[in-house]
Amino acid sequence: MRLFVAVPFPAEVKNELGKLMEDWRRERDKIGWVKKENLHLTLKFLGETPLDKLEGLKKNLAASLKGSGALTVSLSGAGAFPNLNRARVIWIGASEGKEKLSELAQRVEEATVPLGFSADERAFSAHLTVGRVKDSPLSEGLLAKIRSCTFEVQGIIVSEVVLYQSELAPGGSVYTPLERFELAK
Ligand code: 2AM
Repeated sequence: MRLFVAVPFPAEVKNELGKLMEDWRRERDKIGWVKKENLHLTLKFLGETPLDKLEGLKKNLAASLKGSGALTVSLSGAGAFPNLNRARVIWIGASEGKEKLSELAQRVEEATVPLGFSADERAFSAHLTVGRVKDSPLSEGLLAKIRSCTFEVQGIIVSEVVLYQSELAPGGSVYTPLERFELAK
């Protein structure tokens, strides 16, 4: 099974992001926009995982996330990886709560690497993917919208981290929560 660990967002936040994507979609660039209900902030992609590793994984994640406490996150700004001129992934950034999200990613790293999952090569950079670019470069219209993006949602309380299963289906990826880890002390 294909797994990843992520921070979910409340429906109101996803609705705000959905409106932004609706506007960007009007530019008609070839982009795989993330379905509103699938929006999440990835802490770690674990990839294909044998079923017999699942229990140990859940146990380690519970132990390492325990006591980390709820956090407040603000989403703001937009950009692209690796950059806007060679965009492959379009993201919304995190301002408040960035360091805490990094700490969470670190805890997930500590829970998973000893089980044989590969360590992340790149430093964690908190972002929420909204689109995967299929045809680069982006249009001038979309570039202008991303550059001037003033999107901001403040004060999002993150109280859980979720282990998701990702299944690739013809209609797009389906994400199923397998386990929720409460962060509150
Ligand atoms: P990202 O969109 O935040 O970059 C679920 O597939 C999540 O795992 C994606 O949202 C993606 O996070 C992350 N991921 C990281 N590496 C991946 C890979 N090789 N294949 C698919 N997803 C990956």
